[in-house]
Amino acid sequence: MENVFADRISYVPRSFIREILKVTADPSIISFAGGLPNRDLFPLRELKAAANTVLDESGREALQYSSSEGDLELRNWIADRYKKKNKFTIHPKNILITSGSQQGLDLLGKTFLNEGDNVIIEEPGYLGAIQAFSLYKPTFFPISLDADGIKTDKLKQVLLNHDIKLFYCVPNFQNPSGISYSEKKRQEVAELLKEKNTILIEDDPYGELRFLGKDRTSFYNIIPNNTVLLGSFSKIVAPSFRIGWIVAKDEIMDKLIIAKQASDLHTNYFGQKIILQYMKDNDIDEHIDKIKKAYSGQRNAMVAAIQKHFPQGINYTEPEGGMFLWITLTEGLSALKLFEKAIRQKVAFVPGDPFYVDKKDVNTLRLNFSSVDEETIRIGIKKLGEVLKNY
Ligand SMILES: Cc1ncc(COP(=O)(O)O)c(C=O)c1O
Repeated sequence: MENVFADRISYVPRSFIREILKVTADPSIISFAGGLPNRDLFPLRELKAAANTVLDESGREALQYSSSEGDLELRNWIADRYKKKNKFTIHPKNILITSGSQQGLDLLGKTFLNEGDNVIIEEPGYLGAIQAFSLYKPTFFPISLDADGIKTDKLKQVLLNHDIKLFYCVPNFQNPSGISYSEKKRQEVAELLKEKNTILIEDDPYGELRFLGKDRTSFYNIIPNNTVLLGSFSKIVAPSFRIGWIVAKDEIMDKLIIAKQASDLHTNYFGQKIILQYMKDNDIDEHIDKIKKAYSGQRNAMVAAIQKHFPQGINYTEPEGGMFLWITLTEGLSALKLFEKAIRQKVAFVPGDPFYVDKKDVNTLRLNFSSVDEETIRIGIKKLGEVLKNY
């Protein structure tokens, strides 16, 4: 088939990670490649009960078409949660329920980006955002990360020299690096953006999964006028529901609702009702504590195994939450070549390449610790250490 496809779909490669996941589907491979929450922690029994209650008590309503904005009670729940956790007040009219925060990214791209518009992203950056925004053919300005967040000197320079429409960031336990912005970095970034027309997209699917240190201030708290905030139930309940949300001020929300209607009318209403019912009948904080406890143990097992088995000269991040850890190999080594060798030894990770928009054959890689148990982490990291020593 020639000349039938729209240009926009040819700009965007297939998700590299999904391709890798096919290779790692072999159960004899220890995979740190996925980005999956731990399935053993899904609240199966509770969700089953919640689904039954929804069907018994309001089944016909729950199976009907519903509002584009999303269930009002669920939006109220989200607003209350922000009040309790982040100390800011959001009106439910400023919350739009989306089909995962991934759809939030697509709707934001649709709403804001003309071809050639300038977008700042983190380097390395979340692959799903790169993919979603690429459809609208922006010009990316990747800015690298220090251990405490984006390099603000570079950010200042880019903001000074270019008209930047969007600045996309994941300030808590970033995917892929696990890095979080310090309080100081947040204030510096906010100061740089305050007088600008740039919109900061604060993507925060992992914020609730902090197992070390203190909660940090959300950009929505510091510069609400510049910030669009994304959230998700994927990492605190279950990802298959595909339920997330966008928080935005009125004039942005008006446009996002148009984009949402054009896209899918509304998010799966039955799923929204089940999640809400689940949270009414159960203590979500208790559940999140359980997840944090497990991930913290897995993260500690991974860090300890890296310290024990990896050769000198290899850097790693020490995340305070979330699901990922980032490795920087010695200068000149190729994570892609390492991947080929590692797969032969039945251990997998994601080579850093897809997290960059303009670099190839990089010496960085992502390790996921949330979906592998501690003992398997120890075995897998030991194997990876041996592959590294022989490389
Ligand atoms: C930074 C980031 N944003 C968004 C998403 C998408 O999440 P959701 O399941 O809510 O669509 C992910 C998923 O891994 C993520 O890591």
